[in-house]
Amino acid sequence: MDHIRLDYTNTLSDAIGSENGLSHEQLAALQEPAARALESVLARREKDLRWLDLPYAGEVIADIQAYAASVQGRFRNVVVLGIGGSALGNTALFSALSSPYHNADPPGELPRLFVLDNVDPDLVGEWIEHFDPAETLFNVISKSGGTAETMSQFIVFRDLLIKKVGKEAHVDHIVVTTDAEKGILREIVDREGYRSFIVPDGVGGRFSVLSPVGLLSSALVGIDIVGLVSGAAEMDQRCQNPQLLENPALCYAALQWLLHDVKTKPISVTFSYSNRLKNLGDWYAQLLAESIGKRRNRAGEDVFVGPTPVRAIGVTDQHSQVQLYVEGPFDKWFTLLSVDQADHAVSLPEAFADLEGVAYLGGRKLVELFHAERDGTRIALTEASRPNCTIRFPKVDAHSVGQYLFMMELSVAILGEFYSVDAFDQPGVEAGKIAAYALMGRDGYESRRAEIEAASTGTPRVL
Ligand code: PA5
Repeated sequence: MDHIRLDYTNTLSDAIGSENGLSHEQLAALQEPAARALESVLARREKDLRWLDLPYAGEVIADIQAYAASVQGRFRNVVVLGIGGSALGNTALFSALSSPYHNADPPGELPRLFVLDNVDPDLVGEWIEHFDPAETLFNVISKSGGTAETMSQFIVFRDLLIKKVGKEAHVDHIVVTTDAEKGILREIVDREGYRSFIVPDGVGGRFSVLSPVGLLSSALVGIDIVGLVSGAAEMDQRCQNPQLLENPALCYAALQWLLHDVKTKPISVTFSYSNRLKNLGDWYAQLLAESIGKRRNRAGEDVFVGPTPVRAIGVTDQHSQVQLYVEGPFDKWFTLLSVDQADHAVSLPEAFADLEGVAYLGGRKLVELFHAERDGTRIALTEASRPNCTIRFPKVDAHSVGQYLFMMELSVAILGEFYSVDAFDQPGVEAGKIAAYALMGRDGYESRRAEIEAASTGTPRVL
């Protein structure tokens, strides 16, 4: 099977000059710390970083496949109710590995898939207006089993289901993915008798895409989940190598760290030259932002660190953001996602032979234009001394996407070592959740509510 490849040529001073580019010496100097960082992450595989082992959870994969087969043909829709790490991977996999027109015209007996990762009433309300819960399977996903957004959606749809199909039958329309023991959702599963899957210990939300969190909805819409985990396992094997320049996850982490710390590029742009891979950029944005964006380091000191992830799509964003990227401030570095082989061949017919402005396109392939635009952007960035690397996918399939997911998860875990932060907590997210509980009047959060009210007595300034 083909590997995905990391081409870091254009992050080097040889290509873009020494002011913005990395020297071979800078990379070599990171070899020892990088090897130590890798070792300390991999040493936690059997302990608290159980997500490293997800590619080998054969029984879980078999369980998911058996469940997907048992409900095949029964539902027209699958709806994921979840948020953050309990939704972004689902969307990324669906858009990468299903047709962009899947929901308009689902193949065979496969259901449509909707990921409702917001409590905006206009999103949820529109779904209710357009679709029938009686034809729908709801996958409620929450690792903690108590997230307000997910729980509110769950009770809305549970109520609709009970009204539509009755208390007894509604049970077959809900499948829950949550912790094995902890959380209100697990208690509800036990009480109501819902079918459930487990988010294992040591698998945090943003590292859970290769667990039932991401794999169940994928299997339900016909995605090759075995290919995904085999790709991840292959990347895991490649990434055992402590040599910085032979290990894609380690090398990518080193580029991110050096370009931020030494070359002061705080913004990390994932520029997907593949429409199907575009939501991998959103998935990675959460992975990077929540893992590394931290107030305190491991010693408890205030450090306020973290790169800012940005996501762009080629060629679409060439006509909106590339001007800034090529000529704006030198505060960014770029990761182009590129695909060698498209699944479709679209030919450009000969047309308007007398008009050179169109005629040059005739007789070529759309993929030639797509690749020329990608290469054009890469050249423009490089000539403007903007560090950029390319992650090359041989093609977009489950195996290559699985490789990418694992590479980025491991890379971010290693970055936690470089930045000396806990990559696996999210106190900032918890702070927002607690404030929302207080504002919603949840029992036990009265004093937080009083604090918020006391702090908001100033005169509002609103135009
Ligand atoms: O990565 C994380 O831990 C978060 O983004 C969570 O996934 C998100 O807050 C949802 O949490 P939960 O799955 O517990 O509902």
